[in-house]
Amino acid sequence: DGQKILITRKYPAAGMDLLKKEPFQLTFWEKDRPMTPAELAAQAKNHDALLCTLTDRIDQPFLARCSHLEIISQFAVGYDNIDIPEATRKKIPVGFTPDAMSEATADIAFGLMIAAARNFFFLHKTILTGEWGYFNPTGHLGFELKGKTLGILGLGRIGVKMAERCKSAYGMTIIYHNRNRNLSAEKPLDARWVSFDQLLKQSDILSVHCALTPETRHIFDAQAFKQMKPSAVFINTARGPIHHEPDLIQALNQKQIWGAGLDVTDPEPMAPDNLLLSMENVCVLPHIGSGTMEARDQMSVLAAENIIAFYKTGRVPHIVNPEVLA
Ligand code: GLV
Ligand code: GLV
Repeated sequence: DGQKILITRKYPAAGMDLLKKEPFQLTFWEKDRPMTPAELAAQAKNHDALLCTLTDRIDQPFLARCSHLEIISQFAVGYDNIDIPEATRKKIPVGFTPDAMSEATADIAFGLMIAAARNFFFLHKTILTGEWGYFNPTGHLGFELKGKTLGILGLGRIGVKMAERCKSAYGMTIIYHNRNRNLSAEKPLDARWVSFDQLLKQSDILSVHCALTPETRHIFDAQAFKQMKPSAVFINTARGPIHHEPDLIQALNQKQIWGAGLDVTDPEPMAPDNLLLSMENVCVLPHIGSGTMEARDQMSVLAAENIIAFYKTGRVPHIVNPEVLA
């Protein structure tokens, strides 16, 4: 009883209310910005547990100062902001919130696909600048999605939801690349595993749904974009550093690919004068994949439950590094 829990941002009430019912001492960071690394370490030193998210850097220097932490509960499905091997060496269990945002994020990938194929954001800007002239029979033409081939890098919880949408809406052919085949998803989606090179070559829409790891960092570089179809649309709703931004800009400029839809950038936030924002076939959103009331409520519940279950039972229902508790 009485464990001190540091809550690093304003999270939805659904989960916070669960924590308030327990005999914990809760510290809420009330500012709208994330803590600086110095603020985070100073605060965490006096706490037993951390409820954090992707704007908190849980790296080696932090873990060296805060090795006393009993649990880190991450409000997100991605956890590349946390040095997991180091947390594991320090025997700190790390919880996360899978599944909660799969529908929400797949909606953003699906929406960006249509938005890019039809130049939504660029054409919206032409209204704001008074450039909407007459109905133009040949201006700013997009392309149709029916029957196209969807390529997925990372056919997991979110990738499957994106593939389902594309299959039922447009009868798309689904191909994917994973390190390990997802056999249970292949059958209902009629999805086919291909090599990464084949994924690049065959996809009309290439949508990224993998985690950011040393293997996937900048996996979409000049070499990769060069292999894609000139008619292809690149969609990234996973993590910005999975594509190399200067190479993406060059591929778009040289018309090696048709367009792009991004919900994630590197760095975040993207600067307002970024070249991508002025390109006709590019649509960028400010990392809102999980931004529905339903998803964020459920994420806060899972993040809270991971802490509550840990202190009540010694188990963490959704854990990144189960070996710590084994
Ligand atoms: C959001 O980006 C998440 O990883 O949940
Ligand atoms: C387009 O607006 C049409 O009426 O065809």
